[in-house]
Amino acid sequence: MTSQTIPVEPFDFIAFGGTGDLAERKLLPALYQRQKAGQFSEPTRIIGASRSKLGDEDYREFARKAITEHVRADEIDGTELDAFLARLSYVAIDAKSGDGFEALAATLGDSPRIRVFYMAVAPALFGDICANLKTHALATPQARIVVEKPIGRDLASARDVNDAIGQVFEEHQVFRIDHYLGKETVQNLMALRFANALYEPLWNSAHIDHVQITVAEMVGLEDRVSYYDKAGALRDMVQNHLLQLLCLVAMEVPASMEADAVRDEKLKVLRSLTPIRDTEAGKLTVRGQYRAGASAGGAVKGYVEELANGSSTTETFVAIKAEIANWRWAGIPFYLRTGKRLAARVSEIVIEFKPIPHSIFGEGAGEVFANQLVIRLQPDEGVKQWIMIKDPGPGGMRLRHVPLDMSFAESFDVRNPDAYERLVMDVVRGNQTLFMRRDEVEAAWKWIDPILGAWEDSHQDAQGYTAGTWGPSGSIALIERDGRTWHESV
Ligand code: BG6
Repeated sequence: MTSQTIPVEPFDFIAFGGTGDLAERKLLPALYQRQKAGQFSEPTRIIGASRSKLGDEDYREFARKAITEHVRADEIDGTELDAFLARLSYVAIDAKSGDGFEALAATLGDSPRIRVFYMAVAPALFGDICANLKTHALATPQARIVVEKPIGRDLASARDVNDAIGQVFEEHQVFRIDHYLGKETVQNLMALRFANALYEPLWNSAHIDHVQITVAEMVGLEDRVSYYDKAGALRDMVQNHLLQLLCLVAMEVPASMEADAVRDEKLKVLRSLTPIRDTEAGKLTVRGQYRAGASAGGAVKGYVEELANGSSTTETFVAIKAEIANWRWAGIPFYLRTGKRLAARVSEIVIEFKPIPHSIFGEGAGEVFANQLVIRLQPDEGVKQWIMIKDPGPGGMRLRHVPLDMSFAESFDVRNPDAYERLVMDVVRGNQTLFMRRDEVEAAWKWIDPILGAWEDSHQDAQGYTAGTWGPSGSIALIERDGRTWHESV
C-alpha cells in the first residue's frame, strides 16, 4: 500500500519560540518530513522568531542540528535537508516590547499568501504577541494562529487567553492543538467506529461494561520543572489528551467529518460529564507522586528530589472514575489514568463488553472472559479484539481468551507520520477537525476546575508511588472496588 501526499498551497510559517524545545523536537523535524514528502508548493517560507539575537545562517544551523538529532538517520536526505534549510530565515522578536515586529512585517510583505503564526511560547505571551500582530496589521484574512496547551490553568484564565486571541483572530482562524488528535490510531478510532457497522449497535451501556483510558509514560520531569510543577498531571494530561480520547470514544455519530460536526459532538460529551463534587473527589479521584525507584533498568530519583527546593505537592499521576450522564452512557464508568515514571510507556483505550449472561460450558472448560476491544495508540499501534475460542486440538472443550490482532506496523508498509506533521498541514489547509474549539476547551476546564478545587479544599495529598510501578495503590483500589481490574498493558 502506498501513502498519498497531497501538496498544500504555498505558505509562510512563523514559529514564535523558534529556538525553543517544541520547535527543536517537533516542529522543525515535522516540517522537514513534509518537505521530504514533497508536500510543499513554492514559495513556502519558514521564519523562526524568538528573543535570541541570531542571523538567518545561525537559525539554519540550529535547524540542521535539531533535524539531525530528532529525525532518524535513515530518513535524512542531504538534498532535501538543504532545500528545507534554504526556506528558513530568522527574526529576533521581543513579544513584550514589540521590538522586531516591524522587521517581521517587512519579511512577510503584503502577500496574500497563507500565514501560520505558531505560538510555541509560554501562554503568558499569547496576548502580547496577538496584540503586536494586530498593531502591525499582520493578522490578514489568510492568517491562522496555532496555540499549544496549556490554554489557561483553569476556566477563568482559559477564557482570558481565548479572549485575547479572539480580539485579533476569528474562531475559524484559531487552531488549538492537542497533539493526541494527530496520532494515527486516534483517528483510526473514528474509522473503527464510523466506517464499520459492527461496533456501533453495541457501543452503549446495554453492551459495554466499562471503558479504560491509560496514558502511561516512563519519563519523569525532563527539563520542564518550571511548567510542570505548576501544572501537574490533571492539567497537563487529563484536561486535554485524556478528555479528548474520552470524547472520541463516547461521542454520537457526527453528521459528517466537517470540523464543527465533529466538535459539536465532542462538546456534548464534555458537557454531559457528571461533575465530581467536593464530597466525592476522595472516592472518584486518585493523585500520586513518584518516589525514587527504577525505570528502564536504572535507578531514578523521586519527583521532589528533582526539584531545586526539594518539596512539592504536585501530582505526577492521576486516576479518575468518570461518568457521562446521557442516554448512551449513563451508569458506565470511564476509568482514566495517566502518570509519569510508570512501568511502561503505553497509551491505550480498552472497551470492555458485558460478560455473557450464562455459560453453558462446564467448569473444566475454564473461565469465560468478557470481550475486550483494545485500541493501542502507542507504541505498537494497532487494534486487538479479544474473543473466546475453543483451545485447538484434542482434550475436550477448553476455552481460551485470544486476540484478533491487527498490528498496523505489521499490516501496512507505510511510514507512520508524527502527529505534528499531519496537524501542521491541516493548519495550512484550514481544516479544524482535529483541533479544539474554544467552547470545548472551556467545557473541559469546567469539569476539571471542581476537581482541582476539591483537592485544594480537602488537602487531598498525592499518594507516593515507586517509580517504575503502575502508580499508587489507590489507583488499583479505585477500579477494584467496583470488581474490575486495570487491563494489563504490557
Ligand atoms: C504533552 C505533555 O502534552 O504530552 C507531556 O505536556 C507529555 O507531559 C506528552 O509527556 C506526552 O506525549 P506523547 O505523544 O509522548 O504521548
